[in-house]
Amino acid sequence: MTGGTIYGVGLGPGDPDLMSVRADRLLRTAKHLAFFRKAGRSGQARRIVNGMLHAQVTEFAMEYPVTTEIPVTDPAYNAALSAFYTQCTDHLRALVAQGQDVVVLCEGDPFFFGSFMHLYTRLKDDIPVEVVPAITGMSGAWTATGQPVTWGDDILTVLMGTLPQDTLADAMSRSDAVVVMKIGRHIEKVKSALKTAGKYDTAWLIEYASMPNQTVQKLADAGDKITPYFSIIVVHGQGRRP
Ligand SMILES: C[S@@+](CC[C@H](N)C(=O)[O-])C[C@H]1O[C@@H](n2cnc3c(N)ncnc32)[C@H](O)[C@@H]1O
Repeated sequence: MTGGTIYGVGLGPGDPDLMSVRADRLLRTAKHLAFFRKAGRSGQARRIVNGMLHAQVTEFAMEYPVTTEIPVTDPAYNAALSAFYTQCTDHLRALVAQGQDVVVLCEGDPFFFGSFMHLYTRLKDDIPVEVVPAITGMSGAWTATGQPVTWGDDILTVLMGTLPQDTLADAMSRSDAVVVMKIGRHIEKVKSALKTAGKYDTAWLIEYASMPNQTVQKLADAGDKITPYFSIIVVHGQGRRP
């Protein structure tokens, strides 16, 4: 029996209509499906494919042992996640050895800040792994604002809200257009950095881009709430144009 293949399939930002034809085909014929989720949640990637799957599909939910309970700087965080990814890859390797193909669901693009990358690096030298690229969450977010994000020779910088405030402010100051992801409880730090960089007043907050509960508003109008996990801040470039 020949071995199977792992497919890391990008699903796009949330609306199933924004998926590639290849992703759609692989999903509808998949016999084995794997996806990440927070314990006790259904998982965003799994939600996107509701109603698309083969009736006999076998599902493998990979539940993170920690998310925000331990700081990422704590060695215990890396140890817990590293052991978790090894367990996941052991399971996937066993399926592939039995000749099974497995579709791993990836929200957005698999190679853009996605958990799938941790499986990919552990598996790619030993078993066949194919990656299906996709529209990113940030693309869904700036499209939702109805304004182009970059013009001419604008510099676009993508930043994680988890970075230190000075690093954020410095990078924002040196950019024309800015995207901030992974915001959550870092929102006040991100706002302060945007103010330092003179970009707070033109920043937009997009929650759940391309999903049924999408919201789009000026960041200044958003109040003081902690933003949900699926939130992105966009500052549009205003570069040269004819
Ligand atoms: C682990 S990263 C995954 C990025 C994903 N691979 C991509 O291509 O967009 C998760 C972060 O992406 C952002 N994100 C992804 N999709 C989003 C969406 N549809 N709406 C708002 N934010 C989104 C959020 O900032 C979230 O904290």
